[in-house]
Amino acid sequence: MPAEIVVLPSKQAVAEALADRTAAALRAALEGEPRVTLCLTGGSTPVPAYERLATAEGIAWDRVHVFWGDERCVPPDHDESNYAMARRTLLEPAGIPDSNVHKMPGDCPPDEGSAVYEQALEQFFGDDLRFHVLHLGMGDDGHTASLFPGTGALEVDDRRVTTGTAPPSAAITDRLTLTYPTLAKADLCLVAAAGSGKREAFSSVLEAYDGDGDGPPVARVEVDGTMVWLVDREMAQGIAGA
Ligand code: 6PG
Repeated sequence: MPAEIVVLPSKQAVAEALADRTAAALRAALEGEPRVTLCLTGGSTPVPAYERLATAEGIAWDRVHVFWGDERCVPPDHDESNYAMARRTLLEPAGIPDSNVHKMPGDCPPDEGSAVYEQALEQFFGDDLRFHVLHLGMGDDGHTASLFPGTGALEVDDRRVTTGTAPPSAAITDRLTLTYPTLAKADLCLVAAAGSGKREAFSSVLEAYDGDGDGPPVARVEVDGTMVWLVDREMAQGIAGA
């Protein structure tokens, strides 16, 4: 998967780049279309990015529809909820209308939640699912969304949404996640990651890109459009020309 690798000086710079590139892509898409779609990620890396994105100029947020790449199976006001993080950092500060917010139902049994979100995507997109901008992160183990190493979710290719299982060390193990075929439907995929803890996984990703092994789950993401990694020097040290 030919992906652009952008090495930035710090984790804060990664967040700024995620926000600014997202804002530019949304503005461009909004010039040509009545509504555009943004698929958010969870985790901690995006938090300052979403706070910055909420203050970006010239984005008609009433024409931006928001989705998630994954969710923890918790209520929407739970500290571990990706929706709760986005509501606090982006949705409320930017004034995105509730009718534009398509959250994953974390507050029901996982199998039911994945079926509900599958129906929600069908209702919104029909057969033409497309994310103008897709955000992804990467865990230290190379997972992305809630596609974790060695789990069945990696092999689901006949559904848009499935259930995921995080390792026992995670605060919340039951997850909902988009599948690889769904993540592929992105015009622009921005993968934001930082820190020395992700260096080994990132090295495996680059080896996979060079045809050396399959790499971790994030290495298997292939998008219809463009994929750009936004990483800091600490993570890319000794690799990726950093
Ligand atoms: C989640 C995310 C997950 C995240 C990685 C990286 O629900 O946790 O969707 O895939 O992107 O775990 O998280 P950090 O940004 O906190 O390192």
